[in-house]
Amino acid sequence: MPEDNGELKAKTSNENSHTDFLPGRKDHLPLLFRAVECARNGIVITDPLRTDNPIIYANPAFSQLTGYGSEQIIGRNCRFLQRDDREQVAVKEVREAISKEMPITTILRNYKRNGALFWNELTISPVKDENGRVINFVGVQNDVTARIDSEKRVQEFYSVISHELRTPLSSIHGALTAIEDGTAGKVNAQVMRLVRIAVDNSTRLMRLINDILDWKKLEAGKFKLSLATFDPAQAVESAINELQATAEAKGIVLEPRIMTHHDLFADQDRIIQVLSNLTANAIKYSSPNSRVIITLEAPATDTIRFSVSDRGPGIASEQMDKLFVRFQQLDSSDTRKKGGSGLGLAICKAIVELHGGNIGVSSVVGEGSSFWFEIFG
Ligand SMILES: Cc1cc2nc3c(=O)[nH]c(=O)nc-3n(C[C@H](O)[C@H](O)[C@H](O)COP(=O)(O)O)c2cc1C
Repeated sequence: MPEDNGELKAKTSNENSHTDFLPGRKDHLPLLFRAVECARNGIVITDPLRTDNPIIYANPAFSQLTGYGSEQIIGRNCRFLQRDDREQVAVKEVREAISKEMPITTILRNYKRNGALFWNELTISPVKDENGRVINFVGVQNDVTARIDSEKRVQEFYSVISHELRTPLSSIHGALTAIEDGTAGKVNAQVMRLVRIAVDNSTRLMRLINDILDWKKLEAGKFKLSLATFDPAQAVESAINELQATAEAKGIVLEPRIMTHHDLFADQDRIIQVLSNLTANAIKYSSPNSRVIITLEAPATDTIRFSVSDRGPGIASEQMDKLFVRFQQLDSSDTRKKGGSGLGLAICKAIVELHGGNIGVSSVVGEGSSFWFEIFG
């Protein structure tokens, strides 16, 4: 099979060129041209060696995207798509990248021929000759307006959750708590029973909303830590105080084991948040009248380790990987049975990792689980 062998050799000798063309064949240029003409992305080529880097080629998809015919495109600088909307951070970034002959991907506001705004995801790459000199730029355009609009709607949704839901709920929760702890005056036992149910449920709802907003912030990289030095035993005490009533209602004893008072440099509120979350989970999964042990120790001089151990059903080893991934309650019926957003452990992991620490779990099915995290000093 001489032909096959020939082809194989040709491909092998051409391995590093990123093409599958046979050397000696001249028909790749029409193929490349047809591919660019048929591409669904806008593609333009500009000539930086001419005044103001004009467009020298635009494919049909670019005309379709912008509404301009080729006679209105060729010879102009691409900035005509910005119209008067020139004060954009992305435009400045593009200007800098081009002057440094660097590639760039960004999103800009552009306008079609009929004046309609569209968000243009633009990638520009320099094209070099065999001496490494930049002789052209190639730009690839994508209309990402639908994506940006939906991101904006998601953003609005979070802002509604934050302002229209969390703010009134906090005041309802505050009022109910004032009745429950007696500051608002005496109520009879029957009313108190109802108030307790309302407090429990508003607490759950607040946790859920806070989890959703925290997750959003973490995802956007906008979650900031306020670092300070404190005694980690205080964090254990705070988490226990927060959950004492919930534990008592199930007959569960929360037992602190403080083995160190070594100072910790971390965000105290966030450490309490992680600890409360792990403790609330331990209470949720513990059988009534058992013990949840919260241990604080210093396994090394620069390491503080918190762990929360329960005598619950335990977790099978193949399930452990899923635990810290968002929306991954092990049994999908768990969310409804046990409550929670499905975000709790994912948030704990993100907070611990923001501190540069580690989080994990050890567990034996039928005996219980121990969730731990370590922060380094
Ligand atoms: C290959 C290439 C494609 C470009 N495509 C666009 C585009 O689609 N939309 C746009 O607003 N700007 C585009 N630009 C950027 C503008 O041409 C210009 O570089 C930018 O507005 C910054 O420079 P200026 O301040 O001189 O306008 C492209 C630039 C190059 C080199």
